[in-house]
Formats: sequence, structure tokens, C-alpha cells
Amino acid sequence: MSHHLVEARGLSFAYPDGTPALRDVSCRFTHGESVGIVGANGAGKSTLLLHLNGLLLPASGEVRIGELPVTAGTRAQIHRTVGYVFQDADDQLFMPTVEEDAAFGPLNMGLPAEEVRVRVRAALEAVGATHLAGRAPYRLSGGEKRAVAIAGVLAMSPSILVLDEPSAGLDPAARRRLIALLRSFTHTKVIATHDLDLVLDLCTRVLVMRDGQVQADGSPAAIFVDTELLCRCGLEPPLSSAKASG
Ligand SMILES: Nc1ncnc2c1ncn2[C@@H]1O[C@H](COP(=O)(O)OP(=O)(O)OP(=O)(O)O)[C@@H](O)[C@H]1O
Ligand SMILES: [Mg+2]
Repeated sequence: MSHHLVEARGLSFAYPDGTPALRDVSCRFTHGESVGIVGANGAGKSTLLLHLNGLLLPASGEVRIGELPVTAGTRAQIHRTVGYVFQDADDQLFMPTVEEDAAFGPLNMGLPAEEVRVRVRAALEAVGATHLAGRAPYRLSGGEKRAVAIAGVLAMSPSILVLDEPSAGLDPAARRRLIALLRSFTHTKVIATHDLDLVLDLCTRVLVMRDGQVQADGSPAAIFVDTELLCRCGLEPPLSSAKASG
């Protein structure tokens, strides 16, 4: 079985304060699929994504990456396979410089220093952040932080990319560069976002979440014309499809 496969079965989760966030979620993403996860604030998108690389563990049900169930014991292995970009880049960046931050993951994987240097250079270039290499991550702008966080994940050459709101706060050129970059990543991608135009541009499939449940799962072209579904889930059609139909 491909290690690029992502599967959740009967996944439920409540936060320690008792807030229910996922209720019986099942989904299966296969190699090369590019999946958008959409839904209103609080729908459960980030919570679902946090389960895909073991940052959260299921209260009930299970998550598998290929053959491997995501558990406390497999977390380290899962982290090498699933590259995770946090919704808030401040949760991700912690080293004194951008370069050291991007090198942290690959060094931790035990890669030789020269290979790490090559990977870091390529990853920073891919996100247009070469000029930020010597800067302190916490002193960057929001969009710069996001680019650098993505570089750190790319430097680990993951088999699966999981991104939480990757285009939030990006200027139009940076957003276009991000879309081109993600398009060039041909393995499995799972992207939680409010940017439905990005989903339309990039994703072959979209899951609509509401109150911790998957309400719909289909092609963006089919889902984004279902105005009753979108309205029920607190969403609006993407601008580009609204333009096409108007
Ligand atoms: N640390 C936490 N402790 C308690 N409840 C939480 C915590 N994080 C999220 N929740 C709750 O879990 C539910 C799902 O939140 P989640 O962050 O997964 O939503 P989301 O779809 O990612 O929303 P957004 O679009 O705002 O990022 C919400 O009811 C939220 O209030
Ligand atoms: Mg979220």
C-alpha cells in the first residue's frame, strides 16, 4: 500500500475542556490527490488536520498513513512522512534564524550537513525567501513567516503535505507563488482553507465540514455550485465561480 495514502475512520475528538470538535469523521485520500477542507470558523478543519500527523490523537476511531496507524509510538515516523504547516506560523518557527529553522527538521532526520544546506537553500528559494535566511523568524511579517514555515516543511521532502490556511495573509503575488509551488508538489496534499478560489485552482476534491462532521465530499466544480449546501455550512461560492455564473 502506498505510504502516500491518508485515511481516517470513525474519528471523534473532544478537547480537554470538553468541546467536541470531530464527530465520526471518515475520509480516505489517495496518492496524488489534492484535497481542500473547507467550512466555517470552528467547523473542525484544524482539528482534523492535527490528527493527520499525530499532533492530536483520536479519542475514538483511527487515522492511518499508508499501513501505519497514527499513535504516540509512530509519531516520529509519521512526522517524516507528513509535512505539516500550522495555521499560525508562530507555532512552528522557533530557531534564532530562518536558515536554522528550515534546517531543524532535516538535521533532526539525521541527514548530513551538506545535504541539509542544499535542501534549505532550495526550499527557501522555492518560497521566495532566500533573502530572509539570516533574519530572526519572530521579527518577520505574517506573510514572510508563512513562507518560511512552508520552506521548513519542504526541506524535509515529505510524502504528504498538510497545510492549514496556507494563503491567509499573503499578498496577491505571494499567493500566486504559493499556488504555483503547491501545484508543483505532485504527491498527496490536504489543505484547510477559507480561500475557495485556491481550492478551485488547486484541488481535485473538496470536503465540506460543519460542526465536526463531513457534510459533503466531491469535486470542487460540483460542490461550489451547490448553493444550498454552501449556505447551510456558512460558506459562499468562490468569487471566480460567482463571476462565471453571473
Ligand atoms: N485548544 C482548544 N481547546 C478547546 N476547544 C478548542 C480548541 N481548539 C479548537 N477548539 C474548538 O474545537 C472546534 C473546532 O475548532 P477548529 O480549530 O478545528 O476549527 P476550524 O474549522 O479550523 O476553524 P477556523 O476556520 O476558525 O480555523 C471549535 O468549536 C473550537 O472552538
Ligand atoms: Mg483552523
